[in-house]
Amino acid sequence: MSDKYYILTFGCQMNENDSEHIAGILTEKGYERTDNVREATVAVINTCSIRENADDKFFGNLGDLKGVKRENPNMILCVCGCMMQQQIFVDRIREKFPYVDIIFGTHNIADFGNLLDEFLESRKKIVRIMDSSPVIEGVPLRREYRHRAYVSITYGCDNFCTYCIVPYTRGREKSREADDIISEVKCLAEDGVKEIMLLGQNVNSYGKGLKEPCSFAELLRRVSEVEGLERIRFMTSHPRDFSDDIIDAMASSDKICKSVHLPFQAGSDRILKLMNRHYDRAYYLGLVKKLRERIPGITISTDIIVGFPTETEEDFEDTLDIVRECRFESAFTFIYSPREGTKAASMEGQIDHETCSRRFKKLVAALEEEIAEGVIVYQDSVQEVIVDGRSKSDENTLTGRTRSNKLVNFTGTASMGDTVNVKITKANTYYLYGEQI
Ligand code: 5AD
Ligand code: SF4
Repeated sequence: MSDKYYILTFGCQMNENDSEHIAGILTEKGYERTDNVREATVAVINTCSIRENADDKFFGNLGDLKGVKRENPNMILCVCGCMMQQQIFVDRIREKFPYVDIIFGTHNIADFGNLLDEFLESRKKIVRIMDSSPVIEGVPLRREYRHRAYVSITYGCDNFCTYCIVPYTRGREKSREADDIISEVKCLAEDGVKEIMLLGQNVNSYGKGLKEPCSFAELLRRVSEVEGLERIRFMTSHPRDFSDDIIDAMASSDKICKSVHLPFQAGSDRILKLMNRHYDRAYYLGLVKKLRERIPGITISTDIIVGFPTETEEDFEDTLDIVRECRFESAFTFIYSPREGTKAASMEGQIDHETCSRRFKKLVAALEEEIAEGVIVYQDSVQEVIVDGRSKSDENTLTGRTRSNKLVNFTGTASMGDTVNVKITKANTYYLYGEQI
């Protein structure tokens, strides 16, 4: 029987994609995956540091693993991801969680196999963190799904939004060469992948520093030409970099899903400026209008932060106004969380917790109202759905996504990866319900 590995991933799709590479490296070494950490010979926790509650959850989990490690002292416990790019967390782990064996950073993933070999030989703790690295191609990968895949196109971020830790944990923005991306996408399509998600902190600025120049719009056109793909998605888009050329590329390909993730973060010009977002409310609203005109039926999702330093009731009302005006398909909502080392963390006028949570509740209520009205368009419609599998809560229900990325639970006979038509019988705020036809 092979040794097993266990991976726990916190945070965004970038981290999920990194974990798929870690899984790929471990698979090549002959390990098999398990979802039960007690069976694992190698356990990896891939951390996120975007907000404080992610830190807290991680330390909770790490504490729980003490018992597992006591029962199974040979288990190799590894910790990686964004938190490890911050010295304070590495110090805290070394001091309070001495049973962690390997600590590595976001730029050391390609080297994980060697770190593991080194540890197996020496059985001595390894801490390996680099500040940056060139783009490394050809790292093995083990996908979560057969029919859909993430493809990272940029790494890091140059935007320095004042609240955000990502530019510090993931480093400067780097793009992969378009040819490398296209070869990967072709391999995936040949392997049966129907849907790909192009990933980056800001995909729209793809192309910086390439040997062979290529813009994001051009990349989209090239990816659309790959045979076998049915759906192309991308995230995240910075509103500032959403060029007309990208809109044209989206409009001209049936394979590119007509949905964008376009965080606006805050509705007040004053707060947007303090956030260093490089656009104002009028620009954002204009962009949404243009997208809707040029790409009929487009769905837009967003990220919103409440309680940024100095946010007044009036500023917050501006955020609610955007929610009411834009008819988002969905939104991720966050209470501002100060991240040490970012500009906003040392700003005067931090907002108290009570005000934040009151605003947060109001924001969620406004969104739910808007989304509930928006989903009415799905009622009784027929949607193309790619099946992701069986619903976790009900064996008899299938689950999948529409082209607009809406979750659909439905009855039917299809199998994972099939593309089927589903008649929508009920449209809830967070998912649709239907029957396969
Ligand atoms: N506090 C709250 N939300 C944040 N985000 C990023 N940094 C913070 C922070 N310090 C949110 C932004 C971003 C999303 C990925 O996380 O909305 O778009
Ligand atoms: Fe963070 Fe802004 Fe970069 Fe997004 S664009 S990762 S919010 S700094």
